[in-house]
Amino acid sequence: MTKQPHFIPALHFHWLTPYYDFFIEKTFPVTELNACLLQEAEISPGDAVLEVGCGTGTLALLVKRSAPDAAVAALDVDARILAIARRKALAAGLAIGFQQGSASRLPYPDNRFDRVLSGFTFHHLTDEDKRHAAAEAFRVLRPGGEFHLLDFGKPYTLYGRLVSWALRWTEEMDGNVRGLLPDRLRAAGFAEVEERRRFSTLSGSVSLYRGRKPG
Ligand SMILES: C[S@@+](CC[C@H](N)C(=O)[O-])C[C@H]1O[C@@H](n2cnc3c(N)ncnc32)[C@H](O)[C@@H]1O
Repeated sequence: MTKQPHFIPALHFHWLTPYYDFFIEKTFPVTELNACLLQEAEISPGDAVLEVGCGTGTLALLVKRSAPDAAVAALDVDARILAIARRKALAAGLAIGFQQGSASRLPYPDNRFDRVLSGFTFHHLTDEDKRHAAAEAFRVLRPGGEFHLLDFGKPYTLYGRLVSWALRWTEEMDGNVRGLLPDRLRAAGFAEVEERRRFSTLSGSVSLYRGRKPG
Protein backbone atom coordinates (compact mmCIF):
# COMPACT_ATOMS: atom_id res chain seq x y z
CA MET A 1 0.00 0.00 0.00
CA THR A 2 1.35 3.44 -1.02
CA LYS A 3 2.06 5.79 1.89
CA GLN A 4 -0.90 8.13 2.24
CA PRO A 5 -0.36 11.90 2.41
CA HIS A 6 -2.42 13.91 4.86
CA PHE A 7 -6.02 14.23 3.70
CA ILE A 8 -9.52 14.73 5.07
CA PRO A 9 -11.35 11.38 4.93
CA ALA A 10 -14.80 11.03 3.37
CA LEU A 11 -16.72 11.47 6.64
CA HIS A 12 -13.97 13.48 8.32
CA PHE A 13 -12.86 10.61 10.59
CA HIS A 14 -11.17 7.45 9.31
CA TRP A 15 -13.22 5.22 11.60
CA LEU A 16 -16.44 6.39 9.87
CA THR A 17 -15.27 5.41 6.35
CA PRO A 18 -16.88 1.92 6.38
CA TYR A 19 -20.26 3.58 7.08
CA TYR A 20 -19.96 6.19 4.29
CA ASP A 21 -22.51 4.73 1.86
CA PHE A 22 -25.03 4.00 4.60
CA PHE A 23 -24.73 7.50 6.05
CA ILE A 24 -24.78 9.37 2.73
CA GLU A 25 -27.74 7.43 1.34
CA LYS A 26 -29.75 8.29 4.46
CA THR A 27 -28.82 11.98 4.63
CA PHE A 28 -28.06 13.24 1.13
CA PRO A 29 -29.83 13.17 -2.28
CA VAL A 30 -26.83 11.36 -3.72
CA THR A 31 -28.78 9.47 -6.39
CA GLU A 32 -30.36 12.64 -7.77
CA LEU A 33 -27.09 14.58 -7.70
CA ASN A 34 -25.07 11.85 -9.40
CA ALA A 35 -27.79 11.44 -12.04
CA CYS A 36 -27.59 15.19 -12.85
CA LEU A 37 -23.81 15.05 -13.03
CA LEU A 38 -24.00 12.10 -15.40
CA GLN A 39 -26.63 13.82 -17.55
CA GLU A 40 -24.52 17.00 -17.80
CA ALA A 41 -21.38 15.06 -18.71
CA GLU A 42 -23.00 13.59 -21.87
CA ILE A 43 -20.55 10.71 -22.04
CA SER A 44 -20.28 9.07 -25.46
CA PRO A 45 -19.43 5.43 -26.16
CA GLY A 46 -15.65 5.05 -26.25
CA ASP A 47 -14.98 8.11 -24.09
CA ALA A 48 -12.21 7.96 -21.51
CA VAL A 49 -13.59 9.19 -18.19
CA LEU A 50 -11.79 9.94 -14.94
CA GLU A 51 -13.43 10.48 -11.57
CA VAL A 52 -11.27 12.36 -9.07
CA GLY A 53 -12.00 11.63 -5.40
CA CYS A 54 -14.17 8.61 -6.19
CA GLY A 55 -14.73 7.54 -2.58
CA THR A 56 -16.70 4.28 -2.49
CA GLY A 57 -17.03 4.37 -6.29
CA THR A 58 -20.78 5.03 -6.51
CA LEU A 59 -20.47 7.54 -9.38
CA ALA A 60 -17.80 5.56 -11.24
CA LEU A 61 -20.08 2.49 -11.14
CA LEU A 62 -23.00 4.56 -12.40
CA VAL A 63 -20.88 5.91 -15.28
CA LYS A 64 -19.70 2.45 -16.30
CA ARG A 65 -23.23 1.03 -16.08
CA SER A 66 -24.70 3.78 -18.21
CA ALA A 67 -21.83 3.87 -20.72
CA PRO A 68 -20.38 0.33 -20.82
CA ASP A 69 -18.11 1.23 -23.74
CA ALA A 70 -16.48 4.09 -21.87
CA ALA A 71 -13.08 3.48 -20.27
CA VAL A 72 -13.60 4.54 -16.66
CA ALA A 73 -10.74 5.39 -14.30
CA ALA A 74 -11.31 6.47 -10.72
CA LEU A 75 -8.83 7.89 -8.24
CA ASP A 76 -8.88 8.52 -4.51
CA VAL A 77 -6.17 9.30 -2.03
CA ASP A 78 -7.57 6.95 0.61
CA ALA A 79 -6.59 3.29 0.25
CA ARG A 80 -9.33 2.19 2.67
CA ILE A 81 -12.19 3.77 0.75
CA LEU A 82 -10.71 2.50 -2.53
CA ALA A 83 -10.90 -1.05 -1.15
CA ILE A 84 -14.67 -0.55 -0.67
CA ALA A 85 -14.98 0.85 -4.22
CA ARG A 86 -13.06 -2.09 -5.68
CA ARG A 87 -15.30 -4.57 -3.83
CA LYS A 88 -18.44 -2.87 -5.17
CA ALA A 89 -17.13 -2.90 -8.77
CA LEU A 90 -16.16 -6.57 -8.47
CA ALA A 91 -19.58 -7.52 -7.09
CA ALA A 92 -21.25 -5.60 -9.94
CA GLY A 93 -18.93 -7.13 -12.56
CA LEU A 94 -17.82 -3.69 -13.77
CA ALA A 95 -14.30 -3.03 -15.05
CA ILE A 96 -13.10 0.26 -13.57
CA GLY A 97 -9.45 1.30 -13.26
CA PHE A 98 -9.20 2.33 -9.62
CA GLN A 99 -5.99 4.00 -8.55
CA GLN A 100 -4.69 5.55 -5.37
CA GLY A 101 -3.35 9.07 -5.79
CA SER A 102 -3.81 12.72 -5.08
CA ALA A 103 -6.13 15.09 -6.93
CA SER A 104 -3.34 17.65 -6.95
CA ARG A 105 -0.88 15.30 -8.65
CA LEU A 106 -2.75 12.98 -10.97
CA PRO A 107 -0.85 9.86 -12.07
CA TYR A 108 -2.03 10.12 -15.69
CA PRO A 109 -0.45 11.52 -18.86
CA ASP A 110 -1.46 14.81 -20.48
CA ASN A 111 -4.52 14.88 -22.79
CA ARG A 112 -5.73 11.45 -21.73
CA PHE A 113 -9.44 11.89 -20.86
CA ASP A 114 -12.58 13.17 -22.58
CA ARG A 115 -14.30 13.86 -19.27
CA VAL A 116 -13.08 14.47 -15.74
CA LEU A 117 -15.76 14.26 -13.04
CA SER A 118 -15.47 15.10 -9.38
CA GLY A 119 -18.11 15.03 -6.64
CA PHE A 120 -17.73 16.46 -3.15
CA THR A 121 -13.95 16.25 -3.12
CA PHE A 122 -12.90 19.88 -3.62
CA HIS A 123 -14.20 20.85 -0.18
CA HIS A 124 -11.61 18.42 1.21
CA LEU A 125 -8.77 20.34 -0.49
CA THR A 126 -6.95 23.44 0.76
CA ASP A 127 -7.19 26.44 -1.51
CA GLU A 128 -3.72 25.69 -2.86
CA ASP A 129 -4.72 22.09 -3.56
CA LYS A 130 -7.95 23.25 -5.22
CA ARG A 131 -5.77 25.26 -7.63
CA HIS A 132 -3.47 22.28 -8.25
CA ALA A 133 -6.41 19.89 -8.66
CA ALA A 134 -8.08 22.20 -11.21
CA ALA A 135 -4.76 22.50 -13.10
CA GLU A 136 -4.33 18.72 -13.04
CA ALA A 137 -7.87 18.12 -14.34
CA PHE A 138 -7.05 20.55 -17.16
CA ARG A 139 -3.75 18.83 -17.92
CA VAL A 140 -5.18 15.30 -18.22
CA LEU A 141 -8.15 16.38 -20.36
CA ARG A 142 -7.95 16.28 -24.13
CA PRO A 143 -8.51 19.57 -25.93
CA GLY A 144 -12.28 19.95 -26.10
CA GLY A 145 -12.71 17.74 -23.01
CA GLU A 146 -14.86 18.80 -20.08
CA PHE A 147 -14.51 18.95 -16.33
CA HIS A 148 -17.76 18.50 -14.36
CA LEU A 149 -17.40 19.48 -10.74
CA LEU A 150 -20.12 18.93 -8.16
CA ASP A 151 -19.65 20.30 -4.65
CA PHE A 152 -20.93 22.69 -2.02
CA GLY A 153 -21.14 26.13 -3.57
CA LYS A 154 -22.16 29.69 -2.92
CA PRO A 155 -25.51 29.69 -1.08
CA TYR A 156 -28.51 31.18 -2.85
CA THR A 157 -31.29 30.73 -0.29
CA LEU A 158 -31.66 32.02 3.25
CA TYR A 159 -31.43 28.48 4.61
CA GLY A 160 -28.36 27.86 2.42
CA ARG A 161 -26.73 31.04 3.77
CA LEU A 162 -27.34 30.00 7.36
CA VAL A 163 -25.94 26.50 6.83
CA SER A 164 -22.99 27.81 4.81
CA TRP A 165 -22.12 30.31 7.50
CA ALA A 166 -21.62 27.36 9.86
CA LEU A 167 -20.03 25.11 7.22
CA ARG A 168 -17.45 27.74 6.31
CA TRP A 169 -15.34 26.77 9.29
CA THR A 170 -15.46 23.04 8.58
CA GLU A 171 -13.01 21.07 6.47
CA GLU A 172 -11.82 23.23 3.52
CA MET A 173 -15.27 24.59 2.75
CA ASP A 174 -14.48 28.31 2.83
CA GLY A 175 -13.53 28.73 -0.86
CA ASN A 176 -16.55 26.65 -1.88
CA VAL A 177 -19.16 28.70 -0.05
CA ARG A 178 -17.50 31.96 -1.12
CA GLY A 179 -18.20 30.88 -4.68
CA LEU A 180 -14.53 30.63 -5.69
CA LEU A 181 -14.60 27.30 -7.53
CA PRO A 182 -15.42 28.83 -10.95
CA ASP A 183 -12.45 31.21 -10.50
CA ARG A 184 -10.20 28.26 -9.73
CA LEU A 185 -11.35 26.58 -12.95
CA ARG A 186 -10.79 29.73 -15.04
CA ALA A 187 -7.34 30.22 -13.51
CA ALA A 188 -6.44 26.65 -14.53
CA GLY A 189 -7.23 27.52 -18.16
CA PHE A 190 -10.80 26.27 -18.48
CA ALA A 191 -13.09 28.15 -20.87
CA GLU A 192 -16.88 28.43 -20.84
CA VAL A 193 -16.93 27.94 -17.08
CA GLU A 194 -20.53 27.85 -15.94
CA GLU A 195 -22.57 26.96 -12.90
CA ARG A 196 -24.90 24.58 -14.69
CA ARG A 197 -27.17 23.48 -11.81
CA ARG A 198 -27.93 24.42 -8.23
CA PHE A 199 -29.43 22.21 -5.56
CA SER A 200 -30.73 22.99 -2.12
CA THR A 201 -29.92 20.22 0.36
CA LEU A 202 -30.21 19.92 4.13
CA SER A 203 -26.42 20.24 4.27
CA GLY A 204 -26.42 23.48 2.25
CA SER A 205 -26.30 24.68 -1.35
CA VAL A 206 -24.66 22.44 -3.91
CA SER A 207 -23.52 23.56 -7.37
CA LEU A 208 -22.60 21.70 -10.51
CA TYR A 209 -19.92 23.51 -12.52
CA ARG A 210 -18.63 22.80 -15.99
CA GLY A 211 -15.44 23.95 -17.69
CA ARG A 212 -14.11 23.09 -21.14
CA LYS A 213 -10.49 22.72 -22.19
CA PRO A 214 -10.13 24.89 -25.29
CA GLY A 215 -9.19 23.23 -28.51
C1 LIG B 1 -16.99 13.34 0.64
S1 LIG B 1 -16.04 12.13 -0.16
C2 LIG B 1 -16.82 12.05 -1.75
C3 LIG B 1 -16.66 10.71 -2.37
C4 LIG B 1 -17.44 10.51 -3.68
N1 LIG B 1 -17.00 11.39 -4.73
C5 LIG B 1 -18.91 10.69 -3.44
O1 LIG B 1 -19.50 11.69 -3.92
O2 LIG B 1 -19.50 9.84 -2.76
C6 LIG B 1 -14.51 12.97 -0.54
C7 LIG B 1 -13.46 12.04 -1.07
O3 LIG B 1 -12.31 12.82 -1.42
C8 LIG B 1 -11.18 12.04 -1.11
N2 LIG B 1 -10.03 12.94 -1.03
C9 LIG B 1 -9.71 13.81 -0.05
N3 LIG B 1 -8.57 14.44 -0.35
C10 LIG B 1 -8.17 13.98 -1.56
C11 LIG B 1 -7.05 14.25 -2.41
N4 LIG B 1 -6.12 15.15 -2.07
N5 LIG B 1 -6.95 13.58 -3.56
C12 LIG B 1 -7.88 12.66 -3.94
N6 LIG B 1 -8.94 12.35 -3.17
C13 LIG B 1 -9.10 13.01 -2.01
C14 LIG B 1 -11.52 11.36 0.19
O4 LIG B 1 -10.71 10.24 0.44
C15 LIG B 1 -12.98 11.00 -0.06
O5 LIG B 1 -13.11 9.72 -0.62
